[in-house]
Amino acid sequence: MDIKKIFENNEQWITDKLALDKDYFNNLSKGQSPEILYIGCSDSRVTAEELMGVQPGDVFVHRNIANMVPNTDMNVQSVINFAVRHLKVKHVVVCGHYYCGGIKAAMQSADLGILNSWLRNIRDVYRLHQDELDAIKDEEERYKRLVELNVQEQCVNVIKTASVQRASKERGGEFTVHGWVFDVRTGKLIDLNIDFDRILENIMKIYRII
Ligand code: CO
Repeated sequence: MDIKKIFENNEQWITDKLALDKDYFNNLSKGQSPEILYIGCSDSRVTAEELMGVQPGDVFVHRNIANMVPNTDMNVQSVINFAVRHLKVKHVVVCGHYYCGGIKAAMQSADLGILNSWLRNIRDVYRLHQDELDAIKDEEERYKRLVELNVQEQCVNVIKTASVQRASKERGGEFTVHGWVFDVRTGKLIDLNIDFDRILENIMKIYRII
């Protein structure tokens, strides 16, 4: 990739946008009111806006290795807080993807230095669902299922936050959390249709703070 080409691409993009709407950037500069917070993986193949077909201004985005929502990570916690309390997004999406390198690394024994503590959160997801995962004999299927279960657990981590609990209480059906997976092999975006009522039934008495 030629870095100079990126700036040429940018000039072309400006020209294309202005040809369709001469006020395009003027309007963008007025502010943002996205309805969706998207939390996804940093993986270069999983481009948030492009796979959803959305435009600048539509989605507030946070990406990190393996789309994690650790309770002690000030970065993701700040993003959730700002998006929910101030931007008042209507949807929070956690989007994982099959063939995720972070998930793969967490399934193996290797000292990866500073990544160890990050990946530990994924190992904890494995431990929470060990019976189900160990029963899957095919390694690729087990890997894909861990991707899905990690999305589910990160959605639960989103729901543990005060800002999200307050939004659910005050805005009811106007505010929802979604767990999705992107299949790199087919390009398909899959809604896991996570049954939060069932998953949270016995644990919200522990995690409810609002
Ligand atoms: Co990934």
